[in-house]
Amino acid sequence: MKKRAVSVILAGLMAASLAACGSSSSSGASTTAATEAATTAAGLNATFPPFEYVGDGTDTFDDITSNEGNVTGFDVAMMNEIGKRIGVTVEIEDMDFDGIIPALGSKIDVAATGMTITDERKESVNFSDPYYDATQSVLVSEDSTIATEDDLKNASAIGVQAGTTGETVARGINDAATVSVKSFNQAVADLVNGKNDAVILDQVPAEAFATSYSGQLKVLDGSQFNFDTEQYGIAMPKDDEVMLNAINGALAAMKADGTYDTLVEQYISSYSAE
Ligand code: ARG
Repeated sequence: MKKRAVSVILAGLMAASLAACGSSSSSGASTTAATEAATTAAGLNATFPPFEYVGDGTDTFDDITSNEGNVTGFDVAMMNEIGKRIGVTVEIEDMDFDGIIPALGSKIDVAATGMTITDERKESVNFSDPYYDATQSVLVSEDSTIATEDDLKNASAIGVQAGTTGETVARGINDAATVSVKSFNQAVADLVNGKNDAVILDQVPAEAFATSYSGQLKVLDGSQFNFDTEQYGIAMPKDDEVMLNAINGALAAMKADGTYDTLVEQYISSYSAE
């Protein structure tokens, strides 16, 4: 339902290219729909600071109409800005990370959730142009002796979030010790409580968690473990070229006019734990 509304309004905005690309929306329908407020549901998992996490409620976003649980962070601000530029209002859906791709095209229209662009995921979804470079890292307690991949091979519990690239990395190193949970908050809490020996997750979120548990955790750089470079993209249903072009256009414009850098500065560089 929502997906169609979004496609139709984007089609209205992009009427010229629409004729050429053969979208299923008729031009009559787009003219009508373009005058209505269109909503796009953006899926994310809000246990991934500073990209998405539950805030204290002081952050509001003018183009986000529904945000149960006061989710904030870079991806939320980015989607707010994209929504404004393509003429849709955004509704935030906080959900399990491993449920996000299956929900694309039904419960949600897009996913902005620090999702790494991978060949496997590209088989089922479209990704926007990359918007952030990342790498996996290893979060351990401050007094841990873990420092190398061999140490991880001897670990008894490595926490990861189900469905993430960190899970794939952990299973590749030590499948038997890999403990998959639905939320990074849980994986990190288990580390602080001594149930996990390490958590494998993206480096910037790892640093954010280390800030929250000040003095208790340290981040081991991904380069120490030869982890690959990753890039985040906004995921959307595979058949929606109109949406893909609209989102890429908005992203490029945000990069060109400095808005993108301002959001990075505001939400990533200046992140401080709440
Ligand atoms: N970048 C990693 C991946 O794509 C982790 C993303 C997790 N995101 C989240 N919001 N929990 O698998």
